[in-house]
Amino acid sequence: MEIEISSCEHLMYVSEIQQEMYDSAQRRGTGIAKRSIEYLTKKISDGNAVVATENGEWVGFCYIETWSHGQFVANSGLIVSPNYRNRGVATLIKNKVFQLSREKYPNAKVFGLTTGLAVMKINSDLGYKPVIYSELTQDEEFWSGCKNCVNYEILMKKERKNCLCTAMLFVPENNNKVNGTEIQQSEIDEYNGEKESNLSV
Ligand SMILES: CC(C)(COP(=O)(O)OP(=O)(O)OC[C@H]1O[C@@H](n2cnc3c(N)ncnc32)[C@H](O)[C@@H]1OP(=O)(O)O)[C@@H](O)C(=O)NCCC(=O)NCCS
Repeated sequence: MEIEISSCEHLMYVSEIQQEMYDSAQRRGTGIAKRSIEYLTKKISDGNAVVATENGEWVGFCYIETWSHGQFVANSGLIVSPNYRNRGVATLIKNKVFQLSREKYPNAKVFGLTTGLAVMKINSDLGYKPVIYSELTQDEEFWSGCKNCVNYEILMKKERKNCLCTAMLFVPENNNKVNGTEIQQSEIDEYNGEKESNLSV
């Protein structure tokens, strides 16, 4: 399995990625921030995404977005092809995209909104903490992405203070601390390496 920072070589997978994002959202009964082919194409060709493949087949994807003039970063659009789920692929993709985000935007806070347990687990392992929405970017463009969600009315009723998604935030000052104990990048790399070699795909 290859887990790579995206480049133009991955553009051949863009339609499949967009279709799977849509189909998965339909199956979960959630709405989804609109990701056009043009938007995903730009993310991929600018190297602002991570793509997993195996033997030339698309396996998974996630991309970086920046908000509030680069003060916040989100790792969005995480999707794993249904045939490859529950084998640790999302964990590896999120680790890679998180590392890329930290390299590109070392001072930015990294956040995510999710209803999914898998993503909550992965984010916790990366050092994200649950927060209320006022801790996140207040960039109007980010929140307008929620307009396609089936729960948008709830978000508006709650004056954007909370909704059904759990907000999670990684703050750079807390970097590399797990339960208050400092951990080294080499330990994170070793952990990721072990996960990769245990991958039963
Ligand atoms: C969510 C998704 C990305 C997970 O991908 P995956 O490759 O199966 O995830 P992993 O195998 O890396 O699992 C990560 C952790 O979540 C757990 N997990 C995976 N799927 C789960 C599920 N549906 N429910 C609960 N826990 C789940 C795993 O057991 C693992 O936990 P562990 O580290 O304690 O063992 C994938 O199911 C998917 O593409 N779903 C549709 C799109 C989506 O929901 N995206 C997230 C939007 S926020």
